Amino acid sequence: MQILLCDSPDHVGRRAADVIEARLRQGPAVLGLATGGSPRTTYKELIRRHQEEQLSFAQATAFTLDEYAGLPPSHEQSYYSTIRREFVDHVDLPLERLITPNGDAPDLVAEANRYDSAISAAGGVDVQVLGIGANGHIGFNEPTSSLDSRTRVKTLTRTTREDNARFFADGQVPRLCLTEGLGTIRDAKLAVLVAMGENKAEAVRLMVEGPVSANCPASVLQMHRHAIIILDPQAAAQLSSLEYYREAQEFNDDLSLRARSAG
Ligand code: F6R
Repeated sequence: MQILLCDSPDHVGRRAADVIEARLRQGPAVLGLATGGSPRTTYKELIRRHQEEQLSFAQATAFTLDEYAGLPPSHEQSYYSTIRREFVDHVDLPLERLITPNGDAPDLVAEANRYDSAISAAGGVDVQVLGIGANGHIGFNEPTSSLDSRTRVKTLTRTTREDNARFFADGQVPRLCLTEGLGTIRDAKLAVLVAMGENKAEAVRLMVEGPVSANCPASVLQMHRHAIIILDPQAAAQLSSLEYYREAQEFNDDLSLRARSAG
């Protein structure tokens, strides 16, 4: 795991955007997109780079991580609508290459299987953007999710429904969802998790420094071949090895600067 310590949520967004931009500049990329509050500064920065620095998504494909069951894509709180409103509609990603699980499909099990097959057919995810829930979930893999799970139907916990009630005018959050599994997420070539705010601090500590456990689903990233965790000071506050992460970060930054000036 690579831990990047940032000064602010905007700084988190810039560091995450750097990682995504680097991959986009290498050629056609398959992106995995999270929704919710955490990646907003990342998407805002990517949109800025698209508008001001010609960063293009024209060759990219994007898969969203999860979707509420029972909401048609046109519902304003579906993750399809949300990712369009907050990111995709502001860049040049072709809409036919924005792929989301259909939470309104008549057969959700078949839809989940279709989704995993579509990801494989696209060659797998190159860069997976993730947020983390206060209870340690990634995607909607709630605590006790199998560490090897694939895309499937899950029941949301009361905590997650309460956390997300702020997005629904009537406060009524669906009880079921479709989510990529922890195994699906682990298959991504690179995982970039962004977290900010003190209500994420305990989950971040368990993810980075706790045991790998289905009780903190994000801890599965300890077994990922390349996971980058980007934190603001509040989200990093409970980590015990901050000094080491800071040193490693300075060393890595120095190395990549030297590589860039050599190239
Ligand atoms: C949403 C998703 C979730 C969120 C998590 C944090 O697509 O994957 O795991 O990342 O619930 O939500 P926010 O960022 O709103 O705090």
